[in-house]
Amino acid sequence: MPSSRSALPAWQKLTEHQHAAPRPHLRDLFARDPGRFRKFSLASCGILIDWSKQLVTEETLRLLAALARECELESQVKRMFAGERVNLTENRPALHVALRAAAPVVLDGRDVTADVRGVLAAMARFARGVRSGRIRSAAGRPFTDVVNIGIGGSDLGPRLACEALAPYAKARPRLHFVSNVDGAAIASVIGRLDPAATLVVIASKTFTTDETLANARTARSWLERKLRGKAAAAKHLCAVTADPARAAEFGVPAGRVFRLWDWVGGRFSLWSAVGLPVALAAGMGRFDELRAGARAMDQHFAGAPPERNLPVVLGLIEVWNASIRGAASRAVIPYDERLRLLPAYLQQLEMESCGKHVTRNGEPVDYATAPVTWGSAGTDAQHAWFQWLHQGTQAVPADFIACCRPHHRLRGHHERLLANFCGQTEALAFGMTAAEAGAAMRAAGLREPEVRRLLPHRTFDGDRPTTSILLDELSPRTLGALLALYEHKVFVQSVIWDVNAFDQWGVELGKRLAGRILPELGGAAPLPARNASTDGLINHYRKQRRKT
Ligand code: F6P
Repeated sequence: MPSSRSALPAWQKLTEHQHAAPRPHLRDLFARDPGRFRKFSLASCGILIDWSKQLVTEETLRLLAALARECELESQVKRMFAGERVNLTENRPALHVALRAAAPVVLDGRDVTADVRGVLAAMARFARGVRSGRIRSAAGRPFTDVVNIGIGGSDLGPRLACEALAPYAKARPRLHFVSNVDGAAIASVIGRLDPAATLVVIASKTFTTDETLANARTARSWLERKLRGKAAAAKHLCAVTADPARAAEFGVPAGRVFRLWDWVGGRFSLWSAVGLPVALAAGMGRFDELRAGARAMDQHFAGAPPERNLPVVLGLIEVWNASIRGAASRAVIPYDERLRLLPAYLQQLEMESCGKHVTRNGEPVDYATAPVTWGSAGTDAQHAWFQWLHQGTQAVPADFIACCRPHHRLRGHHERLLANFCGQTEALAFGMTAAEAGAAMRAAGLREPEVRRLLPHRTFDGDRPTTSILLDELSPRTLGALLALYEHKVFVQSVIWDVNAFDQWGVELGKRLAGRILPELGGAAPLPARNASTDGLINHYRKQRRKT
């Protein structure tokens, strides 16, 4: 294989294919082929995906499938599922699929699914106990509130799932999430809670993350102060971690520590005990359904042929858009209020996984890897940044996500939501020609000079690519399938880009520097000469702090 992916025959052909002029407009692609939706859409695991509004032809998809073959995608997928050490820089497997597998997965001669079942059984007992009121606070009261303290993968997944699955949750316990080290975050949560009925979950794979430990210490002091003592406070703590010794040292009772393993990446860990908040809010049965939905997507991913394989198709389209067509970002727009945290969740999953500048062998890449993932919920986004999406100078691909059946019975709302979901992707794809815009203005009674003046402003080029993702309903199963779809899409991209999807060395340097700066902020000693900017900022902060 050539040293760079960009030297592969299929990559080169894709580049030529992209430059072969003139590429037909999406309008023409649809006009020429009435079967385009049928060819470029597929339903599986309760999710319909329509990529017919992407800027691809059958030839593009044939070349992308050839690229996948040349990158040996199929064997890489098998290696990941088999527990090989695909995380090369940390010499670890990436076995999130084992967290939801129905069959044994053997790692170093041991079936890890047996360990997973053990932890999930303990988690189920605990969740049932808290939900039923059998497990009680130090004062003998049922827990009415749970605060999950964690950050990144120990926060975003359970936070998203709890919000998405709120219709399946009981009124009590109420779930709260604290991630940011900004004291405003924890203050605003504990300020409203009764410590005598609050359970604190400390979720940290490493149990060394500074932000999480700072928040956990604040929560522990709050409990100790209000409940008058360490022993009482300990009854309000539990932890999810791969380092139980550190959790014990922190003061979490041994029976309340739920294990993780180093073969699960934080951003892939929702399916483990990191999902404890979901089990506490919606019950273990619902959490199992979430895992079953992910398992269904795993089976689809492992078994479907590449051109009918949803994560493969979406991953290849992202490579096409980002690396060949030069799209620097991709918007994610959930037309579902309960999925409003999906863009943030996907930011970590996609950008922490594929935001890499060297290959697995450490060679610099000579192509663009992960684009920026960003977005917010529709229809709100339409009234904020959609102008840019329709008529800005960059044509940014977007995923539009909606659900067919809502959980409410309010008349008129869901149809309006879906009408916007469909209407916006249609406008982005087909636009409005000058002739159409002119005719519309004349029909509205505008005079000819006015029509000419406004025409450039009211014309839409269209030809802006989108993928529509339609869930049957937002259930634990479809949510599980949706998140697993994106996990596997990320893996597909990482194989094509030849980057390690499972490490995150880029976050280390800033953390280390913050550790050095922390004592300097509070001190008054002269600063070690570092750089004029950081020194200037610290000195300014010190002066301001003295004023308070
Ligand atoms: O700093 C990045 C990161 O390591 C993420 O990958 C991870 O999800 C997050 O921090 C939290 O880590 P932990 O669960 O170990 O506290």
